[in-house]
Amino acid sequence: MPSIVFATRNQNKIKEANAALNGAFEIIGLDAVGCEEELPETSPTIEENALEKARYVHRHYQVDCFSEDTGLEVEALDGAPGVYSARYAGPANDAEANMTLLLSNLKGVENRKARFRTVIALILDGKEHTFEGVVNGQVIHIKKGRGGFGYDPIFMPDGYNRTFAQMTVEEKNAISHRGQAIAKLKAFLEEVK
Ligand code: IMP
Repeated sequence: MPSIVFATRNQNKIKEANAALNGAFEIIGLDAVGCEEELPETSPTIEENALEKARYVHRHYQVDCFSEDTGLEVEALDGAPGVYSARYAGPANDAEANMTLLLSNLKGVENRKARFRTVIALILDGKEHTFEGVVNGQVIHIKKGRGGFGYDPIFMPDGYNRTFAQMTVEEKNAISHRGQAIAKLKAFLEEVK
């Protein structure tokens, strides 16, 4: 079975991608190719950041690979925190601090519209492809739920009265930004394989 490197060290993401892709390709992580260094993420947009990571892995390890980058884009904040979602409240990627800062920046703001956006950048046989997944929703006023990670407790997707943190992993994956981007990647890989 051909393998593709997923530019991550997160074993959950690798497992999730393998489950979603259902055996057409074997998805392996950075450890499997001996990549121990931090990948560059210096770009000002989600698309470019995803491409930057995939290009790095392709250039240094000569493998087919894909990377993923995600951000929460809040309309009233002109798309912030966006590409800086992980580091919004500082370099520690502290989800509680990030949510607290976001709620404080939205204090008194009526427009709570936001979206999660994921871009997957794939380099297959030297050619670049991108796949986007978007889920629209609202940033609510208080944290609700204990599941998920990151901004999940304050994000309520449109059409639901529960936050992502109040959903099961399966429920969230079925509608999420990342779930949609992976579904597009899967459809593409099934066509070319
Ligand atoms: P990454 O690109 O997957 O590392 O995501 C960047 C940051 O966006 C994370 O550190 C989280 O703060 C946030 N994020 C990404 N995906 C999700 C999600 O599904 N729910 C909540 N927050 C997320």
